[in-house]
Amino acid sequence: MPSDAKKRRDAKKKEAAKARAQKKPTQKDDEQINGDANCNNTAESEPEPEALTNGVHMSAAEKELVKKLETEMKLNADARACTGVLAIHPRSRDIKIENFSINFHGVEIFADTKLELNCGRRYGLIGLNGSGKSTLLAALGQREVPIQSHIDIYHLTREMEASEKSALQAVMDVDVERTRLEKLSEELAQYDDEESQEQLMDIYERLDEIGAEKAQAKAAYILHGLGFTKDMQRKMCKDFSGGWRMRIALARALYVRPHLLLLDEPTNHLDLEACVWLEDELKTYKRILVVISHSQDFLNGVCTNIIHIDKRRLNYYGGNYDTFVRTRLELLENQMKRYNWEQSQISHMKDYIALRFI
Ligand SMILES: Nc1ncnc2c1ncn2[C@@H]1O[C@H](COP(=O)(O)OP(=O)(O)O)[C@@H](O)[C@H]1O
Ligand SMILES: [Mg+2]
Repeated sequence: MPSDAKKRRDAKKKEAAKARAQKKPTQKDDEQINGDANCNNTAESEPEPEALTNGVHMSAAEKELVKKLETEMKLNADARACTGVLAIHPRSRDIKIENFSINFHGVEIFADTKLELNCGRRYGLIGLNGSGKSTLLAALGQREVPIQSHIDIYHLTREMEASEKSALQAVMDVDVERTRLEKLSEELAQYDDEESQEQLMDIYERLDEIGAEKAQAKAAYILHGLGFTKDMQRKMCKDFSGGWRMRIALARALYVRPHLLLLDEPTNHLDLEACVWLEDELKTYKRILVVISHSQDFLNGVCTNIIHIDKRRLNYYGGNYDTFVRTRLELLENQMKRYNWEQSQISHMKDYIALRFI
């Protein structure tokens, strides 16, 4: 039973959100949604090639590079064939896809497996090099499988473009997400079922979290955590190296706090201090996080579950990386014991047949 205080809080949130919803998004807002190059949030918007600049002038070389990366992503997407069946209520906050397969360049990467991601869990995706970790994230990021449209996805694919925006502005500009959430809350307010109401509450909470008045302080907090001093926060993106622009892109992802956050090796560009900060930040992530990392410490600190890719299937384990290692060792030991037992049975049988019948 929710307490009276919680009920009051929820009612307040509803009122605040209703007030917000009365302000209809403008045409400009819509354009900005489409203009977020790093966010593969394709729920309601088709990415437009021209909008990639995010309203900022880029150098010819930069434009060329962005175009090349976009083409490469598109070629990879074209070379992927994904199949799967939605196996959960369309308004659920969890993701469940059955008969899930991915074919990449004619090679079967996943074969008839199950993809299950629950809200509130943080998954570490592990597997041998080439087993398909990045392919899975890309397929999810591009919505090549039937994920419910209300679930917004942020797949961190590349560094922030070298624009003339300041690092701080670049992070704050990702705030267009608010408009989408407001639209979604209006839609959901029409439903009375428990699932929709829960989702509505979650959206109100997120609207509170991305409150415009706190935008700058929040962006500054994240950038500070990732190693940006006050001066650096005011520096233009184009004056940073690729590694630092990757940090800006990561800051944008953390700012958005999407329903499904997909991070492929986020610690690669970070020093130890920023790694520790990121670990602390992600270990309280309340929605769904799927992270690929070679750092066992990082996975231990962040993850509540591990997904292990083995023999083209997704295998699920509760707990962090260390728990996974222990559980898998026990599993392999039991398999080995069973194998030895079977071998001894076969050998007995052979001896028996040889003695009796030969
Ligand atoms: N451009 C490509 N052309 C053909 N095959 C590719 C290409 N990129 C990746 N692959 C193949 O797809 C498989 C999955 O790759 P990937 O998802 O990058 O694995 P991981 O991230 O687990 O290391 C690998 O076996 C790899 O050989
Ligand atoms: Mg990879």
